[in-house]
Amino acid sequence: MKKLTFVAGSVAGIALLTAMFGCGGGAETKTQVPVEAVKTEAAVQVAESPYAAGEKIYKEKCIVCHQANGEGIPGAFPPLAQSDYLLADKVRAVSQALNGSSHEIVVNGKTYNAPMPPQVNTKEEAVAVINYVLNSFGNNGGTVSLEEVKDVVINPR
Ligand code: HEC
Repeated sequence: MKKLTFVAGSVAGIALLTAMFGCGGGAETKTQVPVEAVKTEAAVQVAESPYAAGEKIYKEKCIVCHQANGEGIPGAFPPLAQSDYLLADKVRAVSQALNGSSHEIVVNGKTYNAPMPPQVNTKEEAVAVINYVLNSFGNNGGTVSLEEVKDVVINPR
């Protein structure tokens, strides 16, 4: 950064000098501001969330039932926020995103029984969205890897 600032400063100086002494001599045509250097300095690196891909899937597929805040809808769709069921078994959660779930389950003491249809088609997508969920809505659930779900079977659709 220091070096860049120095370069940019020098360029400004040269430009100024050229402006001051260059008139009449045709020198102004030779003055070139190194646009690249200025651009590099201006390009601020915005760190992308490691769960960005999963967040995108969540917003496309899960949000309609589990809601933007992950709280679900009482009596119909179970919460993902602070869900004891989710946090107890990450591999099961990945399997659920792939194959759905349609049996009675108990989440945080409440029973749910509506079916959840399959949501995603690949393990990569399932792992991404579950890792997002495990680390959103106040959850601090760690992560699950592709290696850990290698034995999950994707049911035929
Ligand atoms: C059509 C509504 C619907 C959609 C869309 C949906 N779910 Fe579900 N989800 C449910 C229902 C209903 C259950 C309870 C299923 C059961 O009783 O077997 C559930 C259960 C779960 C559970 C286990 C219970 C819990 O609350 O921890 C997880 C994890 C889960 N869903 C994750 C997801 C993810 C991730 C997506 C998106 C990829 C998703 N769901 C999309 C309706 C939905």
